[in-house]
Amino acid sequence: MYYPEEIVEEVRTRNDIVDVISGYVKLQKKGSNYFGLCPFHNEKSPSFSVSPQKQMYYCFGCGAGGNVITFVMEYENYTFPEALKVLADRAGVKLPEVEYSREERAKADKRSTLLEINKLAANYFYYQLHQPQGRIGYDYFKGRELSDETIRRFGLGFANKTSSDLYQYLRSKDYGDEILKETGLVTMEERGTYDKFWNRVIFPIMDVNNRVIGFGGRVMGDGTPKYLNSPETMIFDKSRNLYGLNYARTSRENYILACEGYMDVIAMHQAGFTNAVASLGTAFTSQHASLLKRYTDTVILTYDSDGAGVKAALRAIPILKEVGISTRVLNLKPYKDPDEFIKNLGPEAFKERISQAQNSFLFEIDVMKRDYDLNDPEQKTRFHNAAARKLLEFSEPMERDNYIRAVAQAQFLPYEDLKRLVNHLGNQLGGRPLPAEREPEYKEREARKKKEKDDGIKRSQRLLLTWLIEKPELFDKIKGVVGPEDFKEPLYHQVAQMVFAGHEAGNLNPAGILNHFINDEEQYKEVAALFNADLKESLNNEEQKKAFAETVFRVRRHSLDEASRTAADISQLQAIIREQAALKTMKITID
Ligand code: UTP
Ligand code: MN
Repeated sequence: MYYPEEIVEEVRTRNDIVDVISGYVKLQKKGSNYFGLCPFHNEKSPSFSVSPQKQMYYCFGCGAGGNVITFVMEYENYTFPEALKVLADRAGVKLPEVEYSREERAKADKRSTLLEINKLAANYFYYQLHQPQGRIGYDYFKGRELSDETIRRFGLGFANKTSSDLYQYLRSKDYGDEILKETGLVTMEERGTYDKFWNRVIFPIMDVNNRVIGFGGRVMGDGTPKYLNSPETMIFDKSRNLYGLNYARTSRENYILACEGYMDVIAMHQAGFTNAVASLGTAFTSQHASLLKRYTDTVILTYDSDGAGVKAALRAIPILKEVGISTRVLNLKPYKDPDEFIKNLGPEAFKERISQAQNSFLFEIDVMKRDYDLNDPEQKTRFHNAAARKLLEFSEPMERDNYIRAVAQAQFLPYEDLKRLVNHLGNQLGGRPLPAEREPEYKEREARKKKEKDDGIKRSQRLLLTWLIEKPELFDKIKGVVGPEDFKEPLYHQVAQMVFAGHEAGNLNPAGILNHFINDEEQYKEVAALFNADLKESLNNEEQKKAFAETVFRVRRHSLDEASRTAADISQLQAIIREQAALKTMKITID
């Protein structure tokens, strides 16, 4: 699908961002910006800002940011064309008719047909559950203590024992074999076509906009597989969807409960914990984590208490940490899963367990401990060493110290002793080469150091771009000192080029620049962040000037360092060294 850039720009400029967002979020003017509660994560005090000047929004809490088009995409979970259409209608802009290529039109049509068929199928299953032939399924749900209200809310259904009645039904609605094959609801063989789900209770899987994208079916009795799920289709991507999120996203709790199964989600919702979700029949992925990050900063894992559940939790913790979600782990013992727990001990006891959920790091230490026989002094020492080494994961001294205290307390160790051990190992790892067995940790540590440094440089580059956008008069001050070529990372480089070129042409336009990245969610988020670095408005004037000059120099210095590393020959290197020397004596004065 391709819209000419002018059209996209017209739609964007004809929709003032403050007007549009005011329709969704209560905004209050503060200085030159507007602030409100961020719709993309839970918060109590407003860190969501909208800038009329930049025509952009940015949340200082969760990092969500973009222009008016990405706002509608994110908020409504629309694709780019969908969002553009809504905004074009709103502003009375007529979109060109031939916006789709034939292929793309066909693809979009197919998606909506697949959604249509899924909806019909879900209704069909729901209807069957309430017929005499579906009685066995209905009784099954009743046996699991689900109310009629819960059955309705989750659209639970039943797939009959007959081998192809859903297929016949869909054929009667004039859908052909070709498209039906792509729904994953039927299997076509030489001998004939059969329903995939057969004699199973059915759980429709909905996306965040309540559209049915797939199904799960549980066998009646003890057959295998216990749960059968729709295959991945054009509209069903298991690693990007979470069961129950359509309801959980509107829950008012500031955390989300993550569990393993359909029945766990449903049992929790029925018991009042409407913030529960599950990743279905697939391991937790980083896309799941990013999806959750839109709605929360805290996840409480309520995975099964068996070995597989613990393993799954250990896997999910770092994935969640990576996107900035902090995780706690709920203890379900002596029960296997949330469904059983709630059935036996009730919602109040479950609430209690939520409040006692364990910090994920302490949970990891506890799990680690199980590998050692603590009655044996040698193994006990090894456990202490392993715990101390794990504590080195925290590079921030105060945070590390807090964790040393917590681990010491939880493991009944003297705090001073554990601290000494951690420092000792830290020195060992930082200094001379490591024995082979410690190699991975050493590498990890080095990688972390490098990442911290890179993050620092990127931060400076973000600051610089934000400054230039907010105060275009600064362009004059940096002429001859830094330019787009000093932004090395490809994405930053591309954006810097657009910013400098925009300034040259006299139409510097951050929200317009953002349009170039609209098809890649990760990228446009990063670009939005580039224009919204925290400028430390709290600094006084003198400090601001100094900070700006320092930032300029840091960006340039890093660029020269990089260049010297990749210099092709001696004369190039000499030129770089001269520039490095010149930079040391350079001054930037702002008045
Ligand atoms: P469990 O076996 O723990 O299911 O699998 P459960 O929810 O406790 O099942 P009940 O209570 O006996 O009905 C957890 C989840 O793993 C997926 C399903 O999503 C299930 O809810 N799963 C399990 C499958 O996809 N296939 C299977 O064969 C089993
Ligand atoms: Mn169960």
